[in-house]
Amino acid sequence: MLNTIRLLVQCQNKQYVLEQIRCASQVLPQLSAEKYNVKRKDFATVQSSDVNFFKTILGNERVLTDDNDVTPFNIDWIKNCRGQSKVVLKPKSTQEVSQILSYCNEKKLAVCPQGGNTGLVGGSVPVFDEVVLNLMLMNNIVSLDEISGALICEAGCVLENVDNYVRERNLIMPLDLGAKGTCQVGGNVSTNAGGLRLLRYGNLHGSILGVEAVKADGIIIDCLKTLKKDNTGYHLKHLFIGSEGTLGVVTKVAIHCPVLPKAVTVGFFGVENFENILQLYKSAKSSLGEILSAFEMADRDAISSTVKNLNLPNPISDYPFYVLVETHGSDEGHDGEKLNRFLSKEMESGLILDGTVTSEPGKMQTIWNLRENIAGAGLRHGYVFKYDVSLPQKHYYELVPKIKQRLGDKAIVVCGYGHIGDGNIHINVTVPEYTREVAGLLEPYVFEEVSALQGSISAEHGVGFRKPHYIHYSKDRSALQLMHQLKTLMDPNGILNPYKVLPEEC
Ligand code: FAD
Ligand code: MLT
Ligand code: ZN
Repeated sequence: MLNTIRLLVQCQNKQYVLEQIRCASQVLPQLSAEKYNVKRKDFATVQSSDVNFFKTILGNERVLTDDNDVTPFNIDWIKNCRGQSKVVLKPKSTQEVSQILSYCNEKKLAVCPQGGNTGLVGGSVPVFDEVVLNLMLMNNIVSLDEISGALICEAGCVLENVDNYVRERNLIMPLDLGAKGTCQVGGNVSTNAGGLRLLRYGNLHGSILGVEAVKADGIIIDCLKTLKKDNTGYHLKHLFIGSEGTLGVVTKVAIHCPVLPKAVTVGFFGVENFENILQLYKSAKSSLGEILSAFEMADRDAISSTVKNLNLPNPISDYPFYVLVETHGSDEGHDGEKLNRFLSKEMESGLILDGTVTSEPGKMQTIWNLRENIAGAGLRHGYVFKYDVSLPQKHYYELVPKIKQRLGDKAIVVCGYGHIGDGNIHINVTVPEYTREVAGLLEPYVFEEVSALQGSISAEHGVGFRKPHYIHYSKDRSALQLMHQLKTLMDPNGILNPYKVLPEEC
């Protein structure tokens, strides 16, 4: 059994508390190594002398070795992967990270960097006995330039905490995701997290001004600039954005924070079919242009199972599809009026069947809760196969009915939802429990279909442990070879997050 209290405290914000209690009463997930038939690489095994060394750096309290303490760090958020680590280290400074990595590199001990452990592709937990390096105690805000909006923080800062901090100073974080109460800024950078407002604020390759990271050999790479323009040589920070802990451990981040919008308005609309969603998106871009901050969609199954499983209210009735539109602007009256006008116009045109528009914080939160909790709601059915893919918008929803048909009554729910503006759909397939039969029906089928449509098999969640052997569906051999060369250059012993991102062969 899992340790209930620890999961409650460490894993999730309030919205997921109940989910954690439920999961805690279940048996442990199968070991990843067995489930996915992985062979351990030739790393050293942690000895008591190694633990003693870690304790000389961190003290006894920040080196966890008790099984009950370590277990939650071995299990991922969707309870799909379980590693076998015996040691969790909690550094408090870049210097400590550097000392740990330098030692592990020397001893050929594998390391799994870990942030908030909300990753959805198994990248954040060990596969075998890798040492878990959790950044949660590196959670200080270093500086904020309120004029330029440049914030520097340590990698272990929880996204929501940083957002609250900058909001008090009239700024916002440029990214927002359902896991904001738990995920860490270092984890966001390492996964190049997308989220709910990428449409408006762009991705992290644009917002991240600088990064401090520690290489596998313990060398600290200082690219922590806060300048908007800096063309002095190679843009090394980008190597750490989205490399999922395989090239270095991110220890500090400089990020550009946009101005807090004075006016926020949210609309939630019922729509007849997917074609109408695309037409609505086109219309929203032209009618709401400069204030549009999110354009999200979810199908009936995604919303109805969230309403049912988590007992959440739906402010409108039952429709085949739903669209959530948000605006960030500077004039509440003007923005609200614009979105209301958009609703009336598109109800007249028939693109919207019914809808609601609100600027009241409580009501906006109710709508966002429905959207943000789809990820957690599916876990109530038992097990979720999750697919996070990018597709050309015209093909965005095609896979959902195909998968439904392919699985028939083998699935409880097959649903699609996501970030329409980014061409990023999430497809969740819920089943009572994991079976090889359903896994075999889904994979590589889903990736073959995505590849045939010129999509990407990982839009925003990363490759992690679950997708290295499918990466070739989206990455050319020449690119994979260069990735391997970079990995060898930066981590010659391969100690950083082995079994993740890179395929064995290319
Ligand atoms: P972890 O899960 O701990 O780690 C993720 C990866 O980054 C691992 O490979 C890990 O080794 C590496 N890593 C973590 N910290 C560091 C570090 N400091 N240095 C080097 N490597 C590191 N993702 C999106 O993109 N958009 C969404 O909208 C979104 N919504 C989500 C909603 C929910 C409810 C949940 C559970 C997840 C969601 N995710 C989303 C996925 C996840 O939250 C993101 O990938 C997030 O960025 C992970 O951050 P984390 O701190 O939890 O990292
Ligand atoms: C989302 O957009 O809700 C997240 O990426 C998580 C998920 O895929 O469920
Ligand atoms: Zn998403």
